[in-house]
Amino acid sequence: MPRIRFESVEKCYGSVQVLPPFDLTFEDGEFTVLVGPSGCGKSTTLRMLAGLEDLTSGEIWFDDTPISHLEPKDRDIAMVFQDYALYPHMNIARNMSFALRLQKVPKKVIDEKVARVAEMLGIQDLLARKPGELSGGQRQRVAMGRALVRDAATFLFDEPLSNLDAKLRGKMRTELAEMRNSLDKNMVYVTHDQVEAMTLGDRIVVMANGLVQQEGSAEDLFKTPANRFVAGFIGSPTMNFLDADLVEADGRLFARGDGFDLALADDLARRLDKAARRRVIIGIRPSCFRPAGAEGAAGSTIDLGVKVSEYLGAQSILVTTCGARDLLVELESSSRVDRGKVMTFAVAPQDIMVFDNETEVRL
Ligand SMILES: Nc1ncnc2c1ncn2[C@@H]1O[C@H](COP(=O)(O)OP(=O)(O)O)[C@@H](O)[C@H]1O
Ligand SMILES: [Mg+2]
Repeated sequence: MPRIRFESVEKCYGSVQVLPPFDLTFEDGEFTVLVGPSGCGKSTTLRMLAGLEDLTSGEIWFDDTPISHLEPKDRDIAMVFQDYALYPHMNIARNMSFALRLQKVPKKVIDEKVARVAEMLGIQDLLARKPGELSGGQRQRVAMGRALVRDAATFLFDEPLSNLDAKLRGKMRTELAEMRNSLDKNMVYVTHDQVEAMTLGDRIVVMANGLVQQEGSAEDLFKTPANRFVAGFIGSPTMNFLDADLVEADGRLFARGDGFDLALADDLARRLDKAARRRVIIGIRPSCFRPAGAEGAAGSTIDLGVKVSEYLGAQSILVTTCGARDLLVELESSSRVDRGKVMTFAVAPQDIMVFDNETEVRL
């Protein structure tokens, strides 16, 4: 399998630059997820890799070979699209074997490959049916099977689960995670769904506005987001952000703002000493609030007015007010909640992130 490298790749449509020059590497045998909001350039990136779109400038390398001049069929890539168009008049076996038949692969080899992939995807009993006789989830698997029979070195998936309902999407996500362990291939998987990205990717590349914001493991992105965008995009419910001033008192550094005054961690305070800015944005995940006085509750306290409590089973999500702002708080459902009242929570210093209020970089 080649190592794939984008070098200063740029894409413009007419006079509109949708991807400014960027570098990106996909390591050999790795499952990489490109994640970002709709319109940020994920499909364009994948289509350039597959050879379905020209680069405006830059080069794509497979190991030491430039490939941007190669036709799609010469790139050893198989792609599963967002809208998996199956041929309605062909049965499933023939849909899956279509590319192999074009390549004049011997029938015996084709039959073996189709049988093996169909079994892996659990569609072996459907091979004689037509696409119209399958459910959405089954059709999705066929589309995936059609790519997998091709034995390509690199598989590209463009939002393959986006047409499925939530329950089936969860099931297919688990199956994909299992499947990828048994396939020693390069996989590049595009999605706008951060949960899909977190569960599937060895490495996740977060994109927004045509720019790569951060690359890393799910844990890297969650624990050490590079900037406010990544912090808000990864994790659910989403992180709370508050405008704050940095204030020194009693030898410690505090983030002070409308309705709060929270101590920051000492190592963070030392880093912030060097940053001249005193006006910042702080970020606190909803799960980082503990009812004050509860076991393990440490740090500064904050008073929040409870507006709404949404029961989700094991957890409840509270919509609270802090000054003029709404804040989300996630609690164990067994915690006592006083709806319509003010509750006091503790926030541990190490659970508070600080972002530059202009560049939005995490400090
Ligand atoms: N053929 C095209 N002509 C002009 N603009 C396009 C074309 N395809 C995509 N775009 C624009 O490029 C940007 C990135 O699109 P895309 O890669 O499809 O985003 P994503 O897959 O992340 O949702 C969008 O602003 C989109 O409108
Ligand atoms: Mg897309």
